[in-house]
Amino acid sequence: MSESGRQLVRLGVTLLGAFSAAQCTGSQSALDPAGHAAEKVAGLFWWMTVGTVIVWVGVLALTWWAMHQSGRGEGERKARMLIVVAGAIVPTVVLTVLLIYGLSMMPPMLARAPEGSLRIKVVGEQWWWRVHYMPPEGGEMVLANEIRLPVNEPVEFELESADVIHSFWIPSLGGKMDMIPGRRTRLVLHPTRTGVFRGVCAEYCGASHALMALYAVVMEKEAYDQWLSAQRQPAREPVDALAIRGKDLFFSNGCSACHTIRGTAADGAVGPDLTHLASRMSLGGGILPNEEGALKRWISRTHEVKPGVLMPHFGMLPDSELAAMAAYLQTLE
Ligand code: CUA
Repeated sequence: MSESGRQLVRLGVTLLGAFSAAQCTGSQSALDPAGHAAEKVAGLFWWMTVGTVIVWVGVLALTWWAMHQSGRGEGERKARMLIVVAGAIVPTVVLTVLLIYGLSMMPPMLARAPEGSLRIKVVGEQWWWRVHYMPPEGGEMVLANEIRLPVNEPVEFELESADVIHSFWIPSLGGKMDMIPGRRTRLVLHPTRTGVFRGVCAEYCGASHALMALYAVVMEKEAYDQWLSAQRQPAREPVDALAIRGKDLFFSNGCSACHTIRGTAADGAVGPDLTHLASRMSLGGGILPNEEGALKRWISRTHEVKPGVLMPHFGMLPDSELAAMAAYLQTLE
């Protein structure tokens, strides 16, 4: 093999190694599917990749062959045949097959979930997610920034936006779907294994677009039912002195004008529901871990954590008051 040939092979091996070492697995990977739709998307990706590699290798082989011709003419007829076959017929056939394969996936992916399935309405807001649970047995409930789903059941998502265009995407569970102001789009997700999967907003929606995430927790049916009934409960009253002080501060600082905590007088509808905030995995629309230090940081430096966010920051409060509010919010399990 010539030196250029060897270089080409080395480059190919390096690229393959880099590709397999890249994040193809994990909680936010379309190549590590955990849902019916995601399996189809991953399958399409691999078929496309195989098709691409075959075409790429073919082109390289022809290039190599052409470079090693002695320069004698092959005859015009032969050259024309090559152009027609390799330049027109082969690409048309390959692209048509891949197009038909891709389009054939759309009807099943756009089909509605069967009657009686769990419905969840998610409203995209700058930059968080309002989540309405609408179980088949009735009793709509509004939560935020985290979705829990029973495994092996189809769930129909109704997607809306309160402001600008967002896009709802949990790569491990399925494809993405835009959330468009004034319209309702639909997406069916059918998780096939339990786990925690990260979702993101996939449409540029303003300064903190890249900070608009959520977690989807897929659970066994029994655990899911327990979680759902726990979420239905009103918030527990705080018992220790620090948390009681924090609750007073929550109201005196006006937080209740924007946030709802069921079971208290807080019934604001501008921001996320906080009734069971402490049971969630993250804060600030999927970007901070749910722990005391992060709570204080969020309340006091909101504008730095999420530039452009509607919630005002409370950095002017003394640390003791921030700690009390964080202690109260941590009781909201
Ligand atoms: Cu919401 Cu990007």
